[in-house]
Amino acid sequence: MKSAVIARLATLLCVLTLTPVITHAQPAEPYPPLVLGTAWYPEQWPESRWDADLELMHKAGITMVRVGEFAWSRFEPSEGHYELDWLDHAVAAAGRHGIYVVIGTPSAAPPAWLTQKYPETLRTLEDGRRDQHGNRQQFNWANPKYRQLSRDMAEQLAKRFGHNPFVIGWQIDNEYANESYDEATRAQFQAWLKDRYKTLDNLNTRWTTSYWSETYQSWDQVPIQTKYGNPGLLLSWKRFVSDTWRSYQKNQLDAIRAHSDRHQFITTNMMGWFDGYDHYTVSQDLDLASWDDYVGQGQLDRYSNGAAHDLTRGFLRKNFWVMETQPGAVNWQKINNALDKGEVRAMAWHDIGHGADAVSYWQWRSALNGQEQYHGTLVGTDGTPVPLYAEVAQLGKEFVKAGPTLAGTSVRSDVAILHSYDSRWAINWQRHNNTYDPVAELVSYYKPLRDLSQSVDIVNPSAPLTQYKLVVAPGLNVLSDAEAKNLIAYVEQGGNLVLGQRSAMKDGDNTLQTERQPGPLVSLLGGRVDQYYALIDPVPVSGDWGTGTSQQWAELLSTKDPDTKVLMRFGKSNGWLDDQPAAITRKVGKGSITYIGAYLDPASMTKAAKWMLDMSNVQPKLGTVPEGVDVYPREGPHGKVYILVNFATTPQTVTLPTSMQDVLNDTTTTTVTLPTYGVSVLTPTR
Ligand code: GLA
Ligand code: GLA
Repeated sequence: MKSAVIARLATLLCVLTLTPVITHAQPAEPYPPLVLGTAWYPEQWPESRWDADLELMHKAGITMVRVGEFAWSRFEPSEGHYELDWLDHAVAAAGRHGIYVVIGTPSAAPPAWLTQKYPETLRTLEDGRRDQHGNRQQFNWANPKYRQLSRDMAEQLAKRFGHNPFVIGWQIDNEYANESYDEATRAQFQAWLKDRYKTLDNLNTRWTTSYWSETYQSWDQVPIQTKYGNPGLLLSWKRFVSDTWRSYQKNQLDAIRAHSDRHQFITTNMMGWFDGYDHYTVSQDLDLASWDDYVGQGQLDRYSNGAAHDLTRGFLRKNFWVMETQPGAVNWQKINNALDKGEVRAMAWHDIGHGADAVSYWQWRSALNGQEQYHGTLVGTDGTPVPLYAEVAQLGKEFVKAGPTLAGTSVRSDVAILHSYDSRWAINWQRHNNTYDPVAELVSYYKPLRDLSQSVDIVNPSAPLTQYKLVVAPGLNVLSDAEAKNLIAYVEQGGNLVLGQRSAMKDGDNTLQTERQPGPLVSLLGGRVDQYYALIDPVPVSGDWGTGTSQQWAELLSTKDPDTKVLMRFGKSNGWLDDQPAAITRKVGKGSITYIGAYLDPASMTKAAKWMLDMSNVQPKLGTVPEGVDVYPREGPHGKVYILVNFATTPQTVTLPTSMQDVLNDTTTTTVTLPTYGVSVLTPTR
């Protein structure tokens, strides 16, 4: 009562002193450390329905809605005529229910008038056809007119909402994906090449264009090639695509920054392992990395999904958001099964454990028409909860409860895996064994390293490495001079580097090194790859890591330096490989460098991982836990937090190294028993 009177007086004072009156209410609190969200599309429903939806969200503990990312035709019904009042009402309504807002700029879905008036903004497909209105992402990301129109739109939104206290951030566009192959874009690519290579002589030399008469006499002769073509050209096109997404994004980002409070973050929702562009390039202008985490068909694969989280965390090397995730099932797989009861909650904690500070469900309610009628939601077509709603509501309570403990914490790992788009592209263009998937190869290392150390970072090869005790590079096929220097310096400063198959075969232009693999690292290793072999059947390997097989690929190694030791040898196979080195290692001062020329089966890989961790002196962060239990350590200024999730099909009991506070249950304990999909959040008692 008293405070209401004071608020009244304050408003009156504002009016009397003629300071500008802030028309929106202020949030009661800053937005929570753990955000539970959903994608909400108020433009699809009458305003009279909004409060009921927001009330149901609030009851589930949802504290954030992402809105607007496909609403261009409602924001700008005709050119230059902007209608943003409805969004203002929606944001205010969300605020009244204690819900914060992330606004998506709508450039992934241009309106029909725009396409009709400016057909040049449509993208051209690889076969020369133009895309058309009616789906989404039909725009040309390099087109200046499209950039101007989408920037104007973003600017209008920022001017209106850049100081709105309920708006906590911005998402630019939605899931960047498709490029355009029109002549104007090709000319931009040629200009990009000129800027990078300066002279045609240089380009011709670095791409070895004397091969098949590819030599260029003028820049405008250079074609676009995307799958089969000169490797230097293929890699350059991908780099151009990445830089063009970056500038596409910056075009809107600058407009938002100019008109918004600095504490409103700017992100875009990426797609895990998707490799359409270099995510390190595109992330660098953002405040926050975020991604859309869909299981699709089947159940959660906690390793490849966990690695995708760690990959996303590595884009800016800090916590990230899960901007979209599936409420049960998707609609775009062959079989759109639902996640098990309890699995959605377990997955949310797995997300948080890997460093997410937000988990947001796509979507709240199905549009009554449109392409995604069958997708999972939190309420049905009648606007009342579906069965999964209760599980999400449980998460809502848990996020509130665990929020203060997890606030300010992040993931700190002793182990890093190096990942590069250049290398993935290069291998995928010439797999040489069509079953050779560079992501699967990375995950084959990740799985035991994560199980045994309980925390792994995934970063690019030019990232700072000195904080790591162990750095593993499963497939850096393309290694630039600067990246090679970074790796050499790491080892010379006492770091332990492990290289996997196909390492350092190419330089930064995707040109073969004139040294055998691992090119610039050969003298540090005191050994090299003498020959590589694509395999039809696995070949035996044995040595310090026991007896196992190499699958798909084998690299015959040799040692030159007397300090270089053989760890594993191939067994009898094609004659060439018989009894030859399959893994070698060399101590370099306090550090070491190791090359593994085998694609190890899971059991041998586990032994190899154990060897790597032992020699680098890496301990599991929480000690040993039963199989099937994931441990996710986070730490902050006030100490450590451990999230445990049981993915085993039976209950598991974890014995803790010390007495801990069980944050969700308000108890103190030295053991926790978790049912399948059970979750525990623990912090050492002080
Ligand atoms: C054909 C071509 C060669 C070369 C080989 C590779 O024979 O004439 O130029 O491409 O295939 O196997
Ligand atoms: C993507 C998109 C969403 C929606 C979901 C469906 O993540 O960003 O708009 O289409 O997929 O799974």
